[in-house]
Amino acid sequence: MSDANYSLVNNNTGEKIDLPAIKGTLGPVGLDVGKVYDKQEVFTYDPGFTSTCSTKSAITYIDGDNGILLYRGYPVSELAEHCTFIEVAYLILNGELPNAEQLAKFDSSIRKHTMINEGLKSFFNGFHYDAHPMAMLTGIVGSMSAFYHDTTNNKDPRHREIFAHRMIAKIPTIAAAAYKKYYGQPFMYPQNHMDYSSNLLHMMFAVPAEPYKIDPVIAKALDVLFILHADHEQNASTSTVRMAGSTGTNPYAAVASGIAALWGPAHGGANEAVLHMLESIGTKDNVASFMAKVKDKNSGVRLMGFGHRVYKNFDPRATIIREQCHKVLKHLGKENDPQLELAMELERIALSDDYFKDRKLYPNVDFYSGIIYKAIGIPVNMFTPMFAVARTVGWVAHWAEMVSDPTMRIARPRQVYTGAPDRKVQPIASR
Ligand code: CMC
Repeated sequence: MSDANYSLVNNNTGEKIDLPAIKGTLGPVGLDVGKVYDKQEVFTYDPGFTSTCSTKSAITYIDGDNGILLYRGYPVSELAEHCTFIEVAYLILNGELPNAEQLAKFDSSIRKHTMINEGLKSFFNGFHYDAHPMAMLTGIVGSMSAFYHDTTNNKDPRHREIFAHRMIAKIPTIAAAAYKKYYGQPFMYPQNHMDYSSNLLHMMFAVPAEPYKIDPVIAKALDVLFILHADHEQNASTSTVRMAGSTGTNPYAAVASGIAALWGPAHGGANEAVLHMLESIGTKDNVASFMAKVKDKNSGVRLMGFGHRVYKNFDPRATIIREQCHKVLKHLGKENDPQLELAMELERIALSDDYFKDRKLYPNVDFYSGIIYKAIGIPVNMFTPMFAVARTVGWVAHWAEMVSDPTMRIARPRQVYTGAPDRKVQPIASR
């Protein structure tokens, strides 16, 4: 943390303005440039927000150079080892790990909100038979804003809490329903005696015609994956939820906008893209020619599941997922899975190649998650919805943090205009 003073000097006039340094508990200070336009009539320019903080937040801390990820101060590896996803959800929402009583109350509230309105269920019928589950998730979560009118006062803490519990409880039900719609199978109602991850597995894989047994190893692996994906500070989808939420919009609509942002292959859609990449490479024999394409700037091909805007060392989540991946494949007797071997070969080559070393590109959270999902029978187009289920916790926590802040303002960036200067409309005959 730096105590230095900062200022911005206009080299033509010598005029200088101080930039107050906003200090957090960890990490670099943020320079407050909010008055720059007012005082010097210039904007700051940072497309992609490489050096820009959009907010203060007490939820998640990332140190990308050292591969550190903390939720409310706790390393994600410790949380993955000692806690359940529901405990971590409580932590992310409330700032502290729950005691036994708090956990029982929270868990019970989540279990009681798992069903979705029957009217909402019928919305699935309107989707085309081959609709992508992320399209359904975006649409259905957006539609929730038309159903739950009893808790729309964003300034009321109890309204915010009910919204958060509903959203976290219902998102697996909606994701599973999207899966069932895609396969033309009957929707399965939630079973509230089951834990969060088991319930999702049940809603996806059970059918009314026969009993379905939860595999505890798979349920545990899913729970760990959900912990690792639960929050990641101001990533693109969370920033989208905050941006939409800053207008005071309905919170379900704000979360729907986050789901839409997550879908892209540079963000949550990368787990699906990794599997498509592995399928297109096919066998280890094709790795060398694929890597040549990745390194050729004109090819437009990227090694999906590699690289991260913030992590320039390693992604701590990837290390845990890699371990889980081996555990799950061994448990299922699929440790010789050719796609896992292919992924490991790509990783081995990339980690020793100067192209990746120079650019500090390491495997990210999505490199291995898809292999686990595939091994447990989740189809490729459901990978990103699984990510959305977990990230819902982060979205609602960030939304709640923002709207409960009395200094909240609408997020409204500026631009450097590069279009035509002021001009006159010519009559159509002379254009
Ligand atoms: N394969 C090949 N080259 C890459 C890759 C990659 N996956 N990622 C970055 N580069 C190169 C890029 O071409 C550029 O090279 P140069 O400096 O020569 O122009 C340099 O590395 C920096 O890349 P960038 O695009 O400026 O970096 P960014 O911070 O804007 O993008 C990223 C970060 C995650 C979008 C990018 O690394 C990427 O596209 N990775 C593949 C997609 C992926 O796995 N996304 C999941 C991210 S983790 C989960 C999540 O956030 O949801």
